[in-house]
Amino acid sequence: KKASMIIDKEFAIGEVDPRLYGSFIEHLGRAVYGGIYELGHPDADEQGFRKDVVALIQELAVPIVRYPGGNFVSGYNWEDGVGPVTERKKRLELAWGTIETNEIGTNEFADWAKKVGTEVMMAVNLGTRGPDEARNLVEYCNHPKGTYWSDLRRSHGYEQPHNFKTWCLGNEMDGPWQIGHKTADEYGRTALETAKVMKWVDPTIELVACGSSNRAMATFAQWEATVLDHTYDHVDYLSLHTYYGNGDNDTANFLAKSLDMDDFIHSIIATCDYIKAKKRSKKNMMLSFDEWNVWFHSNESDKKIERWTIAPPQLEDIYTLEDALLVGCMIISMLKRADRVKMACLAQLVNVIAPIMTVNGGGSWRQTIFFPYMHASVYGRGVSLKPLIQSPKYDSKEFTDVPMLESAIVYNEAQNQVTIFAVNRDLEDTLELAVDLRQFANYRVVEHSILENTDHKASNTMANPQNVVPHAGGDAALQDGRLSASLPKLSWNMIRLA
Ligand code: AHR
Repeated sequence: KKASMIIDKEFAIGEVDPRLYGSFIEHLGRAVYGGIYELGHPDADEQGFRKDVVALIQELAVPIVRYPGGNFVSGYNWEDGVGPVTERKKRLELAWGTIETNEIGTNEFADWAKKVGTEVMMAVNLGTRGPDEARNLVEYCNHPKGTYWSDLRRSHGYEQPHNFKTWCLGNEMDGPWQIGHKTADEYGRTALETAKVMKWVDPTIELVACGSSNRAMATFAQWEATVLDHTYDHVDYLSLHTYYGNGDNDTANFLAKSLDMDDFIHSIIATCDYIKAKKRSKKNMMLSFDEWNVWFHSNESDKKIERWTIAPPQLEDIYTLEDALLVGCMIISMLKRADRVKMACLAQLVNVIAPIMTVNGGGSWRQTIFFPYMHASVYGRGVSLKPLIQSPKYDSKEFTDVPMLESAIVYNEAQNQVTIFAVNRDLEDTLELAVDLRQFANYRVVEHSILENTDHKASNTMANPQNVVPHAGGDAALQDGRLSASLPKLSWNMIRLA
């Protein structure tokens, strides 16, 4: 089969905010305890942070990490996680049915983020708590000194403020499963009053209001409209969350699910712009896709996990090649709206629905989804260009006109680099791709990296960590501004030109 694209510098969608490649660490399962932190592990540093895990995260060049939840944050008293570790209380953690030891809290996480070289996206609890505790936390983290909360931080050994810049106003507050679930009006009012006091403490921070937990919620879109009606002038981003699964083992349909993500983003932009129009506002609301991934493999095993244990192996999806292809398509969906989707968090980062897995006391390895995420994060910085694509199409159970070729282009003018990300969704055939590269005739192919496998259900494990890894054997060639490349069936491709 054949597909073609035209790529032109003039077809600019928008600057890719590096925070599009963010991720997420929640106090959930083995993300923190046994994931980023394991005191006594042979590879742990003096604070107990696993250096092998830090190194893997650095390979991903993760620019920002959301913390500490997730559903966890809606029952979290942040004061439990600061001060001398020996005095910290163990608590029942109601969101996930575990025991939280509070060995790691805000300050330790700030230390860890510095070691990794990432920023922190902090979330405040608007489930069981409200504006008062949120403004205290901003004061604790960001105020230099001379007040109760800032001096308390200093007394805990942190003389300099953390200066966290990005803050989430709660998590999934539309969901009945959420501790302190609210109606849109209840949440909208609380979020507004919380936003006001947080920004009064530190006017330099940026705030994310909760959108719907997913597009299937009964209140979807009306939730966003109501919340923004309350908060539009006081927040900077609206959140989106989505997870896809392949429970019915229909690969063609599964790989098409990023079309749902395209529509989701489009609907949310339309809803934001409706409120903008209603308010005669000049401001465009930006989007934070702060939870996205494939999540379904662990659903059954999670039901068997005993309650009230510490750091049980929850949400430990083992990902296949086809999961990595959908992850690639989801990244492409966000790049296609880089003008409005400014932040995003692959949920999550370590052990919990994660690109990185660890063994307690043992090693760590890269899941299949690690690779498209790494390629995009490392080589997808610049301006997102809109490719004009001609591709064969197919219909699946839920979708019609699904293009076999999914692609996004990032142009980095400063470095004279163009990166083509492309997925071939076809289960049977190679796609012969022809690209008109117009103004890039003097470029050359630096790399054509491919993630593929004869078995699309193949995955990596600790015992076999190299089973699904990219190889540099792609045949992309560029001559006189025309690129040709074979995209194998069911493959993720990164073609770099410079
Ligand atoms: O990422 C796992 C969970 O998914 C998060 O805690 C919650 O926000 C979402 O439902």
